[in-house]
Amino acid sequence: LPQALAAQKTLREKTGPGSEFTDWVTLPGDYDKDEIRRVKEAAARIAGRSEVLVVIGIGGSYLGSRAVIDFLLSPYYNGTPGKTTPDILFAGNNLSGDALQKLTERIGERDFSVNIISKSGGTTEPAVAFRYFRALAEKRYGKDGARQRIVATTDKARGILKTLSNAEGYETFVIPDGVGGRYSVLTPVGLLPIAAAGIDIDALLRGAAAMMDSCANAPDNAAVRYAAARNALYQSGKKTEVLASFDPDFVYMGEWWKQLYGESEGKELKGIFPAAVSYTADLHSMGQYMQQGERTLFETFVRTDMPAGGLAVENDTANADGLNFLAGKTVDEINDAAYQGTKKAHTDGGVPCLVIEAGPKNAGTLGQLIYFFEYACGVSGYMLGVNPFDQPGVEAYKKNMFTLLGKP
Ligand code: PA5
Repeated sequence: LPQALAAQKTLREKTGPGSEFTDWVTLPGDYDKDEIRRVKEAAARIAGRSEVLVVIGIGGSYLGSRAVIDFLLSPYYNGTPGKTTPDILFAGNNLSGDALQKLTERIGERDFSVNIISKSGGTTEPAVAFRYFRALAEKRYGKDGARQRIVATTDKARGILKTLSNAEGYETFVIPDGVGGRYSVLTPVGLLPIAAAGIDIDALLRGAAAMMDSCANAPDNAAVRYAAARNALYQSGKKTEVLASFDPDFVYMGEWWKQLYGESEGKELKGIFPAAVSYTADLHSMGQYMQQGERTLFETFVRTDMPAGGLAVENDTANADGLNFLAGKTVDEINDAAYQGTKKAHTDGGVPCLVIEAGPKNAGTLGQLIYFFEYACGVSGYMLGVNPFDQPGVEAYKKNMFTLLGKP
């Protein structure tokens, strides 16, 4: 804890490496209100004219919005009968031509808009997808029509995407200078697709602000305790952290968390390896490893309260499947017993378990959780002695790829 408190001081006083990228610490309290008003207007406009919004981005430029939409709405959100908001399809997060083709088929004849998101403005994966969708939009709607349907989220002044947007007359949204990709879900990067899906972004921001206040007001806050615990475990030889949830809507939150921690901490030959599992599905795969594999890991359970009620198991007089012992119990109650049983089994099996009790499953809670993980990550990175806000290691593959492709 003393190490964590010192790291927190470094973060708050902006005295550590990468401190120019720590504006997210105060963002939920001092975001640009006018920009967020424009985000809401753009989201409403997109919903009014398009059945599909294609969100083009990679890493921090898409994982946050995908995670929030899945968690608060559902991984089955797209295609929900009767909904009035557009499907949100993600592109530009891979280099698969087949995926691009299938995505185009998913859009079909439906009207679509495009949100291209890139802070640097020149990342290859989204740039390739954007060239493709820009051409598709221009073919379908003409140059002027396409201009009405394309919005770009990028740096306020620099980069190819900004130059292109100015030249073409696209509406643009700003990623603040002091906020890096993986800390940007609460900027227009995440908020525009999230708002387009019909989620209350004010509630999300209010939740984040509540956690921001709690981190600012109490040095010994929950995020600092989490950072302290995971580093104490790391120092005792636990090299892998497994983030576990019993809510299948949480899968992409796990992906977002993996990026946040993996890119922030994995450097200088150091760092906890972030893994994620979705239970109970993964109890029938990774559960074996968790129980009896190498004992170099610890587990962090994330819990949100499920709404009361819900589907229950019915009584069946024949009881041929022997399940009448569950009759009257809700599926969520059974899930909770699975959680309690798993936590005890893993603890008994030599896996230290942390538990994050987040509260009711809603936008406010998720805003809190997002800020909690970001703040803990900044603190944790400084405890480890690295710059949690750069990612020099991701350049190596690009260099090789560009050499192979003959980039001028
Ligand atoms: O966290 C980061 O900075 C990265 O994961 C970026 O978000 C990712 O590489 C995409 O970068 P950009 O938005 O510049 O295209």
